[in-house]
Amino acid sequence: MSEYRICLLPGDGIGPEVIAAAQMVLQVLPVNWHWVEGDIGWGAYQRLGTPLPDETLEKIRSCDATLFGAVTTPPDVANYRSPVLRLRQELNLYANLRPCRSIPHPISRPGINLVIVRENTEDLYVGRERVEGEGTRAVGEMVITREASERIGRVAFELAIRRGFTKVTVVHKANVLRETSGLFRRSVLRVADEYPRVQCNEMLVDTCAMELIRAPEQFQVIVTTNLFGDILSDEASMLVGGLGLAASGNIGDRMGVFEPVHGSAPGLAGKDRANPLAAILSAAMLLDYLGEKTLAEQVEQAVWRVIELGQVTEDLGGKLGTRAAALAVIGQVRK
Ligand code: NAI
Ligand code: MG
Repeated sequence: MSEYRICLLPGDGIGPEVIAAAQMVLQVLPVNWHWVEGDIGWGAYQRLGTPLPDETLEKIRSCDATLFGAVTTPPDVANYRSPVLRLRQELNLYANLRPCRSIPHPISRPGINLVIVRENTEDLYVGRERVEGEGTRAVGEMVITREASERIGRVAFELAIRRGFTKVTVVHKANVLRETSGLFRRSVLRVADEYPRVQCNEMLVDTCAMELIRAPEQFQVIVTTNLFGDILSDEASMLVGGLGLAASGNIGDRMGVFEPVHGSAPGLAGKDRANPLAAILSAAMLLDYLGEKTLAEQVEQAVWRVIELGQVTEDLGGKLGTRAAALAVIGQVRK
């Protein structure tokens, strides 16, 4: 039996409920799990004076993979910043993966099976912004490097091969941003030459935003820079069921942190109303990352089946609470 050490970061709001649900599902698989729990978020800040204790980073480093819930970031607390950005930067989690697959439910468009691979460390998100004059002019720097662009390009092509995809689409805006987006484009196209068996095409980001609505089934793997990937991945998730189902992974060289895309949904917290499927699908991504492909598929299939059966939470038109929805998935996993 395989054996893994997993770091759980429940966080705030519905985070603990959806992480408990995902843990329940993992628990019934034929794996010897060792759980390590870490503090993160607003609650941690109130108890410990920091939203991301160094101890938590150490725990993540010492584990085979991490499953993270969500954190609350109050907008009106001076100098308080979300720990999520620091988490990604400190651990150099340079690839953000966002799969989107059609679900057997009327809210989802059919025929979609794509993954957005987003560069997670640079672009306009490096935080180099300044205000000039009397606050009437704000300037931000977009940083793109050949190294990070090639690195994310390799993630995209390797993922395509591993998942049996045949096409990678490089999304950029090199016609206007000739140096920054241009460097990204050239770097990824150079990597594409190393993968002659995977077809590679390119698309401008505005065209891609339009094509995702017009004909999303044309896409398999989309690789793009940080800001474009942030926007396109939220757009794409709405084609296949939205936040209750959107899962993601943040991957570095020796680390993977998996998390539902949704936030802490304070209005639902403590009420057993949150949809646990996004967290459960994030756990399936974690299994895939660990090399447990069969188990990952088993969990995914179980999720698809409960959706078909309508054994889901209210956001998907069902009647189940968080815990009962997780138990329904477990019922299917056991079949
Ligand atoms: P949110 O994702 O928490 O909620 C948006 C809407 O979706 C709400 O109506 C919520 O009830 C619903 N929703 C979210 N997850 C759901 C689930 N699992 N099942 C059913 N319904 C669900 O985003 P919002 O409201 O903008 O932010 C709330 C807090 O979460 C804020 O403090 C924000 O900073 C934080 N946040 C944290 C993120 C993270 O930890 N990665 C990501 C996004 C927001
Ligand atoms: Mg976002």
